[in-house]
Amino acid sequence: MAMAVLPIIEAPDRRLKVRSEPVARVNDEIRRLLDDMVETMRVAPGIGLSAIQVGVAQRVIVTEVPEKTAEDQPAKATTLYLVNPEITWTSDSLVICEEGCLSIPDQFADLERPAEVAMRYLDRNGASQELKAAGVLARCLQHEMDHLEGILLVDRLSPVRRHMILRKLAKARKKPAFA
Ligand code: NI
Repeated sequence: MAMAVLPIIEAPDRRLKVRSEPVARVNDEIRRLLDDMVETMRVAPGIGLSAIQVGVAQRVIVTEVPEKTAEDQPAKATTLYLVNPEITWTSDSLVICEEGCLSIPDQFADLERPAEVAMRYLDRNGASQELKAAGVLARCLQHEMDHLEGILLVDRLSPVRRHMILRKLAKARKKPAFA
């Protein structure tokens, strides 16, 4: 079946504040959602997307983070399909990294988070999986996990920085498309 590009909800929108519900069963409907989310993420383009960003309040995440496996090889992106994901471990070491969000287009902010995470989740066949991630993937997974709790990256900033970013976002929207 052809995949569909879904509209991405942008801040400020009350739906992005909703805590997503666990998926009862990984069935064809969920696989369809996963596929549509991957297509939507690629077109955006982005490296991660949570279901609530396309208006579905279920605990579903997709990521596609390019990773270099060898120095002489081009970076290859592995697509991860995560249903009911949980963070089971975070490293004590923290790292500051610039973060963006498809729901807050073209705005970026430095944010401190654990450098590494371990996760448990169901894959697109409903099988239980575990992974450990560092670098951009660890960052992306934590960002998407926040979405499942109704937390946006701006919610992790000081009120002053949050208002600055949301004001810039509102201003950018008012500009004509050719500007
Ligand atoms: Ni986001």
